[in-house]
Amino acid sequence: MDVAKPATRPARPYFSSGPCAKPPGWSAAKLATGSLGRSHRSKLGKARLAHAIELTRHVLHIPATHRIGIVPASDTGAVEMALWSLLGARPATMLAWESFGEGWVTDVVKQLKLDATILKADYGELPDLASVDWTSDVVFTWNGTTSGVRVPDGEWIPADREGLAICDATSAAFAMDLPWDKIDVATFSWQKVLGGEGGHGVLILGPRAVERLESYVPAWPLPKIFRMTKSGKLIEGIFKGETINTPSMLAVEDYIFALEWAELQGGLSAMTARADANAAALSAWVEATPWIEHLAADPVTRSNTSVCLKFADDAVAGLDDEAQLALVKKIAALLEAEDAAYDIAGYRDAPPGIRIWCGATVDTDDIVALGPWLDWAFQQAIDS
Ligand SMILES: Cc1ncc(COP(=O)(O)O)c(C=O)c1O
Repeated sequence: MDVAKPATRPARPYFSSGPCAKPPGWSAAKLATGSLGRSHRSKLGKARLAHAIELTRHVLHIPATHRIGIVPASDTGAVEMALWSLLGARPATMLAWESFGEGWVTDVVKQLKLDATILKADYGELPDLASVDWTSDVVFTWNGTTSGVRVPDGEWIPADREGLAICDATSAAFAMDLPWDKIDVATFSWQKVLGGEGGHGVLILGPRAVERLESYVPAWPLPKIFRMTKSGKLIEGIFKGETINTPSMLAVEDYIFALEWAELQGGLSAMTARADANAAALSAWVEATPWIEHLAADPVTRSNTSVCLKFADDAVAGLDDEAQLALVKKIAALLEAEDAAYDIAGYRDAPPGIRIWCGATVDTDDIVALGPWLDWAFQQAIDS
């Protein structure tokens, strides 16, 4: 079959699921640089870190009950801090339905050696949320970046839970509503929905998590970069911009730029609406395209940020996973060479397919322009 090469390219062909597209209009020259080359503990450095924290609170509607800290080692650092500092006080339940959730299971079972209850589902599905035992601490990912499956809402988390709800929200924050009264710990990193730089994590602690930190000492040692208490009290400075160790002030300024952009657009509802519009535009193309399907079977659990797609069975009849992966590679390489789309191959551990980031910094026109390019690249790849 002959599919003509489209005439129009996406203006910004950035569809990676992390680091994600910079905010529209971003340029390095627009970043404030006054804090660079200064101590992060100078009055100015601390003020900029505190500003980043307060803008985060404002844009995400985080209530005053929850503390917000900037911590080392990106989202992974923030999640590890939470797992190592909080777990072990009561039974733990781990939910996993894709690669990152599985990574947290491995940590808790193999490293912390906790006898956790593990609720797993295959790529494209969610575990049975109704069967979660909330007398235990529960660790889950709000949006599974590598399968494109998210929890539908916070209704399954009871208000009167005994355990802590510990949530890796890295590809959800700024694109989905997070019910803060249902979340005791949330984490994310900057390079996702707002298109910031990698390097730092954000750790959000509700009052029940702080209570746990102040009343429980884990049986294992904690390295300095995980330690949030001193003499049994929370180190409050961490949540005011007195970081545990030295942050990149350039990354901080870049994050502030992204937050200010988000505010100018109308804040969280505008960010969510942008992601929703992108995901809807992509879905419209999927519906009209016989060779591709959503990996997330149920539209209610379908991500509006990391949208994962698989080949329709008929389109790749007779091709095993390896051959399908080769097809994915060809499609991704063709589109990259044409500057039509960057970084769209699915995650290495996920079923073969493509993944298109639809987060708030992507423009819907670019998603619309991408469809015909995907059709063209698929035809080229399958014919070659
Ligand atoms: C759900 C989820 N958790 C954790 C991570 C790891 O994030 P980071 O590289 O910021 O540590 C990612 C990265 O894509 C992710 O998608």
